[in-house]
Amino acid sequence: MQLPLGLLLLAALTEVGARRVVPIKIQKEQPNGGLLLHRRQTRTPFDEDLTNNLTSGAYFAQVEVGTPGQTLSLHVDTGSTDVWVLGTNTNLCTNSVLQAMYGGCIDTFDRSASSTFARVGRGTDFEIRYMDGSGASGFYFTDHVNVGGLSVDDVQMGYAERSTSAWGMLGIGYARNSAARDEYPSLMDQMHDQGLIATKAYSLYLNDLESSTGTILFGGIDTQKFYGTLKSVPILPDPVTGHITHFNVSLTALSVLSGNPDIDAGTIIAPQSPVPVILDSGTTLTYLPSAVTAPLFAKLNAYDQSGGEIPVVYVDCTLVTSDPSLVLAYQFGGPDGPVVEVSIADIVFDDIKQYVAAGLLTLPSKLPFPKENVCSLGVMTSAAGDVHLLGDTFLRSAYVVYDLSNDMVALAQSNMNSTSEDVHEIPANATGIPLLTGQLAPEVIRPVRDNGAGRMGVGLGMVIGILALMI
Ligand SMILES: *[C@@H]1O[C@H](CO)[C@@H](O)[C@H](O)[C@H]1NC(C)=O
Ligand SMILES: *[C@@H]1O[C@H](CO)[C@@H](O)[C@H](O)[C@H]1NC(C)=O
Ligand SMILES: *[C@@H]1O[C@H](CO)[C@@H](O)[C@H](O)[C@H]1NC(C)=O
Ligand SMILES: *[C@@H]1O[C@H](CO)[C@@H](O)[C@H](O)[C@H]1NC(C)=O
Repeated sequence: MQLPLGLLLLAALTEVGARRVVPIKIQKEQPNGGLLLHRRQTRTPFDEDLTNNLTSGAYFAQVEVGTPGQTLSLHVDTGSTDVWVLGTNTNLCTNSVLQAMYGGCIDTFDRSASSTFARVGRGTDFEIRYMDGSGASGFYFTDHVNVGGLSVDDVQMGYAERSTSAWGMLGIGYARNSAARDEYPSLMDQMHDQGLIATKAYSLYLNDLESSTGTILFGGIDTQKFYGTLKSVPILPDPVTGHITHFNVSLTALSVLSGNPDIDAGTIIAPQSPVPVILDSGTTLTYLPSAVTAPLFAKLNAYDQSGGEIPVVYVDCTLVTSDPSLVLAYQFGGPDGPVVEVSIADIVFDDIKQYVAAGLLTLPSKLPFPKENVCSLGVMTSAAGDVHLLGDTFLRSAYVVYDLSNDMVALAQSNMNSTSEDVHEIPANATGIPLLTGQLAPEVIRPVRDNGAGRMGVGLGMVIGILALMI
């Protein structure tokens, strides 16, 4: 039966009007020929270059700031909250000596060209420091920000007068975690308060290492972008203040799954000794405590120089080819919690040899594998007392829904390279993340050692079942 055209149109309009979601595309870039944030206390420009090339780029989103809009690429950071921009007169952007150290500014905002620019107060109270030692300072201002084609009014942002970062940031963490003395409504708060999204939640899809784009979907979940069913875990509060400031979740199991009998597969973290980890898109690698990395690196035959002058964990490149089905399985929130598998090919980087050839790096003499096979691993040991971070070398394998209204995250295995979409709005006043089901996981044939009883092929779902039994 055919509906009258008018009715059809009305139906379509209601559909679109009812769905309050804001998708933005994020781009993986290597600005300045590979320079990017490397979160360690000590850093030298060379140190950065090296790590940068290992990690294959950082994630940037394009937004427009001001009236008329000026397009700026900002580094997407779930680990911080302030949105801030480099200005045309920021010291780094006008000084070649500084640029030789920190890189040239990738985009600058001309405040005199925006008719809606308004400085907040008269002070110079914008000051932010990141864990890698970089930072920026200046003052706060408000202006329009266009995110994914939708205008958000009155967004408070930092304007950097001084910066040691070659790009501005799009912090999308908790407002409470802002660098400002006085908490102010974050970009997320404003998007919610101005009705662009029904809840303060977004989904992050970084996509494959080889892919140059991913998405952040504010207010919604795209069921084409993940496998299986989302499972949620609570975000851990700070034990001292009781406040939630970071996307800190409980990592309750880490397992090496492999069909290669030379690999000592098995579970490293046991549920009774969970590790709090922060899901941080602004960090390129993954940093876990030595109690976890020591047994992990032993299984992978990796050589740990995370604490070295040039921090690297060396690994044999042939790990990738000798067993392509080797994965690290991360599980959160206990034996029934979500599991995300990170394939070995996504965390072994073949970038060390060029440095050695160029005389920039001397390999340790005691590498436990042939020097001509040297690669680096995307997992490092965090400094003692430091926070533990799951950065892009974890997040690319996951579809993560961050719900700042209910203090939860939900995770599922990423469906990499997906080009279709099926977007669902997260309803207003939802008391949790809708635990939607995504795509059917492809059959992964991974021979699993079964106490010497031989090999068997299992699908992804079965592997997850086996995992739950093992811990
Ligand atoms: C990093 O990689 C890029 C290309 O991928 C290359 O042009 C650049 O020279 C490398 N940097 C260093 C320090 O080797
Ligand atoms: C993360 O949670 C753990 C456990 O509650 C806590 O010890 C740690 O301080 C938290 N870290 C941050 C940065 O919130
Ligand atoms: C995604 O596509 C790239 C090529 O663009 C390919 O190298 C990569 O293996 C694909 N990843 C998956 C998981 O299919
Ligand atoms: C959500 O809750 C707020 C107050 O808690 C209420 O004002 C609002 O109408 C509710 N919205 C919906 C869609 O239920």
